[in-house]
Amino acid sequence: MTSGMPGEAGMNLRNNERRMLKGMLSEPNSEWSLEKLLSVAEWDDQVHVAGAGKGLQEAGMVEITETTSRMVSLGAEGKRAADYGLLESRLWHWIRNKEEVQRTMSSLMSSNFDRSETGPGIGILKGLGVEIDSGNLVFLNEEEISREIDKRAEFIKSLSNGPIESSSADEEMISHFSSRSGLLEFEENTSRTWKLTKAGASIDQSALTESQLIGELTPEMLQTGSWVGGEFKPFDVQAPAPTPIGGRRHPMQSLIERIRSVFLEMGFSEIDGDYVQSAGWNMDSLFIPQSHPARTMQDTFYLDKPSKVEVEGSYLDLWARVHEHGHDTGSKGWGGSFDIDESQRALLRTHTTVNTVRHIAENPSIPSRVFGIGRVFRQETIDRTHMPEFHQIEGIIHEPDASLPMLISTLKTFYAKMGYPDVRVRPAYFPYTEPSAEVDILWKGEWLELGGSGIFRPEVTEPLGTEWPVCAWGMGLERLAMLILGLDDIRQLYQPDLERLRKMPLL
Ligand code: PHE
Repeated sequence: MTSGMPGEAGMNLRNNERRMLKGMLSEPNSEWSLEKLLSVAEWDDQVHVAGAGKGLQEAGMVEITETTSRMVSLGAEGKRAADYGLLESRLWHWIRNKEEVQRTMSSLMSSNFDRSETGPGIGILKGLGVEIDSGNLVFLNEEEISREIDKRAEFIKSLSNGPIESSSADEEMISHFSSRSGLLEFEENTSRTWKLTKAGASIDQSALTESQLIGELTPEMLQTGSWVGGEFKPFDVQAPAPTPIGGRRHPMQSLIERIRSVFLEMGFSEIDGDYVQSAGWNMDSLFIPQSHPARTMQDTFYLDKPSKVEVEGSYLDLWARVHEHGHDTGSKGWGGSFDIDESQRALLRTHTTVNTVRHIAENPSIPSRVFGIGRVFRQETIDRTHMPEFHQIEGIIHEPDASLPMLISTLKTFYAKMGYPDVRVRPAYFPYTEPSAEVDILWKGEWLELGGSGIFRPEVTEPLGTEWPVCAWGMGLERLAMLILGLDDIRQLYQPDLERLRKMPLL
């Protein structure tokens, strides 16, 4: 392009600046008011003039002259005075309509003037030369007082049409009324004018065509080079924008991950196991009587395929003895006769305690601290806090010195690390632990039950081949998830409602 020369300086201007400059070039020597600029640029908001004017001033093309004026207008009392008469005017009128002998304080007090007016009113009259002589209102210079009062009333009236510049108002009146409350109000008013500098006036109009703002650089623009010389739309960091949606783990998975890292940090190793188990490992190994109500079809999902899971005969033998008469655990057992077919019925595990007992059976003489987070299944009616599938956080400490205090402090440490430092245990009952404890955490001033724990009974540990005590616990994961994620319905965790899942807190 060969015609670029004259507009060099204009090229760096923003669109609004170009438009304003172009308008001003129509009268290059004028001093421009806000109104004139708004009309020449066809803007309806003065922020454009202020912004573009500032830009042009910085570019050395425009000079801004600021004049600050103090405007005076009537306050609330002043408006009342304009409507109903100034207090001294009304008092003066009252006085002059009375016979001389009736111009007394007592008749003023019993007049229509309100108490709130008579007090200050007398003060004002005194200032004008009225005196109180043994209860009579007396004055000498009647004409002078009338003149002064008229002048004041006149001044108030002059303001009733709107604010005026205080420098052009009667200075004496301003100072008088300024000392009386509520009559006048003052406001600073800054007005600006804009004038082209020499540099501004010499800009070539043709360089001032407004350019298309580039909002987004496309690959095409980069390839063709059409962006060169273009003007870029500035970023508006306040503009509303869609929340960027990145991939994230399911909140439940993140929570599991966090629990996992807490236990690993505490020196535990992770174990897991199958969903399908024998009733033997799931229940008999835990000294749950074969007649226990939780073992019925209403509570447990028994399977048809497979309907049977084989259990090693040595365990069946031991459990039969323990259940029938206590074997050599010191217990009397449950009595009756143990059914090894019942023991081999296939089911979906009802708790993850099945994993920890099997771990002990496989490692009877190796001290261990293990945990597992797994899904369990129970025939529950679905509601706000129940589902037929849920997760448990299971764990054991199996070592020579395992003890109840060790169990409690371990659970306290775990929940404290999860953000719930207030933990309490209450006595409870499970067929497989003694002592047994229910674990609660404090949340929003309420104790919430999160799970069971205890020390495995000898009826459990003996057949497994260990002589050490075992601290054991099994906690609900969903309950904890509801707290941490702020949910009031457990089902929200498993519904594929992406909108809701996206908004759940990152863990
Ligand atoms: N298995 C028990 C439950 O499902 C919890 C528990 C685990 C209790 C270990 C004591 C010891 O509620």
